Amino acid sequence: TAYSGLSAVLLDWYDRHARSLPWRVPPGSGARPDPYRVWLSEVMLQQTTVAAVKGYYERFTSFWPDVGALAAAEDADVMAAWAGLGYYARARNLLKCARAVAARGAFPDTYEGLLELPGIGPYTAAAIAAIAFGRPATVMDGNVERVMARLHDERAALPGVKPVLYAHAERLTPVERPGDYAQAVMDLGATICTPRSPACGICPWREPCAARLAGTAAELPKKAPK
Ligand code: ADE
Repeated sequence: TAYSGLSAVLLDWYDRHARSLPWRVPPGSGARPDPYRVWLSEVMLQQTTVAAVKGYYERFTSFWPDVGALAAAEDADVMAAWAGLGYYARARNLLKCARAVAARGAFPDTYEGLLELPGIGPYTAAAIAAIAFGRPATVMDGNVERVMARLHDERAALPGVKPVLYAHAERLTPVERPGDYAQAVMDLGATICTPRSPACGICPWREPCAARLAGTAAELPKKAPK
């Protein structure tokens, strides 16, 4: 379908332009990153920028290299290491989740299984399922929503548009390399399809992008009319 073509174009771009980040494996290597490291990075990246997360991620993984080590940590040590990242409920949930995973022996390897862990919502479950386990789960956050709104020129950003954007994202999610694909959309949203002044001229999706064709990219997604 046209959709698998779109995914392939983005994966090809990612092979050449992926940001090198401490929680990633090289694109296209076929290697699966450690679920613990994927989980830790995704929890840290919620509401915190990549630049701010890097140092914290390096410190956590050197103090606590696996989920068993984190599960056995003192609460106060983990809270101290988290200091500065904000949203401290995340750190408390992190420990709760580490202890639940340690008790069951390993991370569940499906979206549904991951969703049952404390502190893991649809975004994190999909990210871990795709990136660590190669499952074609659809990873949806604000960046992916913006990219989908532009690609399909969903200009009427009415309250009901989120399920529409999710359906677009779901159709595009490839069965092959879903983890690389998820991170490719994240990189596209962070570096090219940015909220303001998107760099449409160098975008791998410039040709199929409906908003670029309509000249509406920079103003999408529009807020619902009041
Ligand atoms: N933001 C959330 N998850 C990310 C990831 N895996 N890589 C880069 N940015 C992200």
